[in-house]
Order: sequence, then structure tokens, then C-alpha cells
Amino acid sequence: MNFELKTLDLHAAAAHRTDALIILVSAKDKPAKGVLAQLISDARQSGDLDESPAKLLSVWRPQGIAAPRVVLVSTGDGSARVVRQAVTAAVTSLKTAKPGHLTVCLADASEHRLQAAAQAVADASYVYTATKPSAKANVLKRVVLALPSADQTKASKHAFDLACAQVAGVSLAKEWGNRPANHATPTHLAAVAKTLGKKQGIHCQVLGPKEVEKLGMGSFAAVARGSSEPLRFIVLQYTGAPKSEAPTVLVGKGITFDTGGISLKPGPGMDEMKFDMCGAASVLGTFEALSHLKPAINVVGLIPTCENMPDATALKPGDVITSMSGQTIEVLNTDAEGRLILCDALTYATRFKPRSVIDIATLTGACVIALGHVRSGLFSSSDDLAHALFAAGEAALDPCWRMPLDDEYSEGLKSNFADVANVAGREGGSITAAKFLERFAKDYPWAHLDIAGAAWKSGAAKGATGRPVGLLLHYLLGTVKTPAKPKVALKPTRSRAKAPSA
Ligand code: BES
Ligand code: MN
Ligand code: ZN
Repeated sequence: MNFELKTLDLHAAAAHRTDALIILVSAKDKPAKGVLAQLISDARQSGDLDESPAKLLSVWRPQGIAAPRVVLVSTGDGSARVVRQAVTAAVTSLKTAKPGHLTVCLADASEHRLQAAAQAVADASYVYTATKPSAKANVLKRVVLALPSADQTKASKHAFDLACAQVAGVSLAKEWGNRPANHATPTHLAAVAKTLGKKQGIHCQVLGPKEVEKLGMGSFAAVARGSSEPLRFIVLQYTGAPKSEAPTVLVGKGITFDTGGISLKPGPGMDEMKFDMCGAASVLGTFEALSHLKPAINVVGLIPTCENMPDATALKPGDVITSMSGQTIEVLNTDAEGRLILCDALTYATRFKPRSVIDIATLTGACVIALGHVRSGLFSSSDDLAHALFAAGEAALDPCWRMPLDDEYSEGLKSNFADVANVAGREGGSITAAKFLERFAKDYPWAHLDIAGAAWKSGAAKGATGRPVGLLLHYLLGTVKTPAKPKVALKPTRSRAKAPSA
């Protein structure tokens, strides 16, 4: 999808050639002349368009307007959240018309509203085609985002670039999340990372089973053992600042299919476990966005990726394995595999002397019970990091919610046969999973995002959401060091020579 930023006031929009014109209407709009302005004011007066959020009015072949379809949509209180809701409703209403070229007229140049509009157009018009070629006819090719004055267009250049980068990152994460497990193996994910590694400022290294074994990642290797697909450990490095600057490390869970292993999952709905690599996909998507924006920061992406399968060689309940940290783990449930691959990646992260480490994982069904599909679970050993991630989620409309990490939650992870067990009881399952990870993340400020509820949708809308690329990107851009303010010039001190001698 190609986005373009343009200046179009309502007058120009009426003459603008496009398959469909979406006009965001706010209560604050000033009365204007012209056929579109008249249409809006008539629609308001008649009561067919009121100020309730995302209220729609579609017009077909209106006289004096070049576009064959016009959708007026109310933006309610004007918040970015309602702009997203309004654009989603408008684009969805055009689904059967299958426009190839769409124009969205925004009323003003707010950064958050522009981003919300761009992401909403991309999300509402997304079509998965990788293994469904017949859907290719429905792809939206060109999108114009229009602002009413040249000044506003100029001022929005940066926000527009940010929006496009985020859309590209989210799209990549969705794309790979959606691909079925036989089209998204660990080797495929490594190939995506290698392609990213060809971009300026990005370096990519991919390790295989032998190297992982040599590093002592006994926990990660144990999960991969039940599958004939070889594991991969992906190391991405984005360098936008001097090497001396400590990087943020992102660690993404990359289970390309989770059968549960010998602790086999029930059959119904198991297909959705192809989404168990959405943490990994969000790291790849974030690197895609970084490659567009080239911010002055350093970021490392670590992706342990493999399948979790039952087989003669698979891990068995009760097996004790040795992690890279040296801690032994009693595997009481082979379906709690995410934490087993992440713990070794968290140990590996130490070598980068990171400013912070954030892991992203579709880790627990318990997190879906706790927070549903709206907010990701946020767990952190650092208040500062937690606050920054929370704020980034709010700004990106990709929200999370902080969960507790009291030590009492670790009680159930005690084992008679190893340093730690990989599961505790059913209660507080997302928290005990985080407590397990915390044991391996003691060397740096750490946060864990459990995206089991946020990463994909089930039912008729089944598909990956591309979350939390928006949150991660906003967080990372917030870590760019602003240039130090020039020091206030000190008043020249009297020279010693002139000082009165004692
Ligand atoms: N990938 C799943 C988590 C999951 C389950 C995400 C359902 C979304 C929906 C993870 O590997 C898993 O199986 N977790 C177990 C942990 C349990 C055995 C302690 C779970 O949540 O049931
Ligand atoms: Mn599992
Ligand atoms: Zn899993």
C-alpha cells in the first residue's frame, strides 16, 4: 500500500479524482463554501449526520464531486481513538466497492490523529494473500491522506513518515503472524531477518542447532528437540547511534507452531497456535519500521525460534534441563515452552550490556483471561521502564496494563529436582510465568509483554493484529537522546591579575 500526503481543502477535494473520498467531519469545522461543504452542512441540518463517534453517511455519485463515492464520518470528540474508529467504519463500509485508490480528508494536522487514520486505513483494508492468491483483486493500492492547508501538510511531514513506518512494521508483523506454520518455519523467519539485515544500519546473524548447543542454551535446544524443523536463533542489530551507547534489546518468542509437545493441547482451535510466533513477528516489524525512520538509537533484536512438537525425541514431563544461565529447570509441562526458549535468550542479552531488555511473547492463556484482547500484560522489574512502556502504549493506541511481580508468586515454581520448575498452579498463571522469566533477567532493567490476547483475533476476523509494533516503536523513539541544551554562558570572572592582592 502506498501512502501519499497532500493538501486538499474541501473545495479541492470535490475536484480530486479518486475511487472513494472519506471526509472526517468534526463539530469544530468552520462553515465553508463549495459543494462538499454544502453537503456536510445539509447532512447535519437534516440530522442524517450527527456528532456521535463514527456516525457514517455514504453518498453515491453526488453531483459536482469527481469521486464516485463519498463517505462523511463524524469524529466525535476528535480524539485519536475516535478518529481510528471513524476511519475503520468508513473503510469497512467501502469493502464491497473494492476501491483501488482511496482519499481520506483530515480536518487538522495533529500527529496522533494522522497516525491513527493511517493505521486504521491499513488495518481495515488489509488483505492476506500469501496463500490465498484469489484475494489479490481486493488489495487497496493507493491512499492519499489530505490536510486542508499547505502549512499543515508541511508541518505534518514528520508525523506522516512515522505513520508510514509504523504501518510498514505492523504489516510485516501481521503478514508473518498470519502465514500458516508450514509457510512460516524458523528457517523462513530467519530469511526475513536476513532480508532486513541488508538494509542500511541493520546487521543480522543467524545461529543454528550446533551453535545454540555450543552456547549452552540447553533449555531452548530441549524445546526444539521434538521437531524435524531445525531451530534458529536470530540476532538483529540496528545501529543508529555511536556504538558506545547501550542498546535496547527486544526478545521475541518465535514458536512457529505450539502443539503443546508431549503435554499435547486439545484439538479444537489448535490451528491458532501458528500465531505463537507473534512476539518474534513484532520484533521483525519493529526493525522494519526502524529501517524507514533511522533514529539515533541502538536496538538489538533476539529471536529464539522453533516448533513445539511431540515426538520420540521430544522433551517429557519431569525432564530436567540446564539453561544457559546454569540454572536447572524441571519441565513439569512441555506446553509451557515459551519461557523455556525465552530464558536462554534473556541470558544471551546480557552480553550487549543493555539499557533495558523487553521480551514480547504470546506466553499464557491466563493473560487472555486476565486482560482479554484489549490490553497486553506488562510486567517489569523497573518502574521507569514500566511507566515509559505504558505511556508508549497509550500514545500508539496499542495499550498495555501493568501486572504485579510480588515474590510470593514464585512459591509454586519450587522444585524438588531442579533449581526451578517451569510451571506453578493454574492461579495467576501469567504472573507465575513472568516470575519464571524474571529469574533470568537480573542483570538489567527488564520488562515482559504478554501479548497472548493482543496479538491476534479469533472467529470471523481471525488474523494477526501486528501488535505491539506500535507500542514498541513509540517506546524506542522516546529513548532518542535529545541534543544537550547548550550550557548557559557563565559571566566572565575577573581575571586574577586584576584581583586586588591580599
Ligand atoms: N502459546 C501458549 C499460550 C497461549 C495459549 C496463548 C492460548 C494464547 C492462547 C503457551 O505456550 C502455553 O501453552 N501456555 C500454557 C501454560 C501452562 C501450561 C502453564 C497455557 O497458557 O495454557
Ligand atoms: Mn505452549
Ligand atoms: Zn506457546
